[in-house]
Amino acid sequence: MSVLIAPSILSADFAALGDAIGAVERGGADLIHVDVMDGHFVPNITIGPPVVKSIRRVAKVPLDVHLMIADPDHYLDAFAEAGAAMLSVHVEVLPHLHRTVHAIKALGVKAGVVLNPSTPVGALEEIAGDVDYVLVMSVNPGFGGQTFIPRSESKVRAVRALLDRAGNSAAVEIDGGIDKHNVARVVAAGVRVVVAGSAVFHSPDPERATRELKAAALAGLPAASVPR
Ligand code: DX5
Ligand code: ZN
Repeated sequence: MSVLIAPSILSADFAALGDAIGAVERGGADLIHVDVMDGHFVPNITIGPPVVKSIRRVAKVPLDVHLMIADPDHYLDAFAEAGAAMLSVHVEVLPHLHRTVHAIKALGVKAGVVLNPSTPVGALEEIAGDVDYVLVMSVNPGFGGQTFIPRSESKVRAVRALLDRAGNSAAVEIDGGIDKHNVARVVAAGVRVVVAGSAVFHSPDPERATRELKAAALAGLPAASVPR
C-alpha cells in the first residue's frame, strides 16, 4: 500500500465545499476526510449526515468520516446511508467497542478506531485483529490548525507493531498538525493515511498543497515500496 492523502474539509470554506473538494481531487487527494463534532465529546460543532450526503454527490473519491461525538452508535446507520466509505469512532466513548466495530462493518463500511493523544495504545489490544484502520490523533480533537504532538510518532510505531502482532495489515492513519515538513517522518513510522486540514485549505492553492503533501509523504516510504 502506498500513502493515501485525505484532506480535511474542516479548514475549507463551508460555503464552497464543492469547489474545495474539486481542487484537492485535482491535486491527487485519495479520500476526503470529514470531521463530525457534536459539542459534547469535543468543544466544537460541525456537520451531520445531510451535509455528508451532499458532499457524496460531488466527491469522486471515498469519504473518510471521523466521528468526534459522544454517542456514535446512535448515528452509524445515518452516516453509512449518507455515503461514508470509512467511519472511525473514538475508543474513549465506547464501552462496547467490539460491538460497534462489527456494526460498522455490517453496514458495508470500513471500520476505524481512534485514539486521543492521552489514550494508551494498549486500549486496542483486544480489538486489533478486528479493525480496518486505526487513527492516531496527533492533536487533541476539536479544532484544525493545532501543533503536532511529537510523541505521536512513536505511538504510530507502537500501533503498527500491535496490528502486526495481531496479523492485521490494517492501515494506520494520522490526524492533526500534519504538513509537508513533518509528513515523511510519520510515514516512515508506519502511517499510510494522512489527514491534513489547514496545511491544505489555508494555503493559497489547495490543489498544489495536496500535490506537494503527497510528494513529501511518498518520500517517507521505505525505498522498496515507492510506486514507480
Ligand atoms: C481535529 C480534526 C482534524 C483537523 C485537522 O479535531 O480531527 O481532522 O481537521 O486539522 P489540521 O490538519 O489543521 O491539524
Ligand atoms: Zn479528523
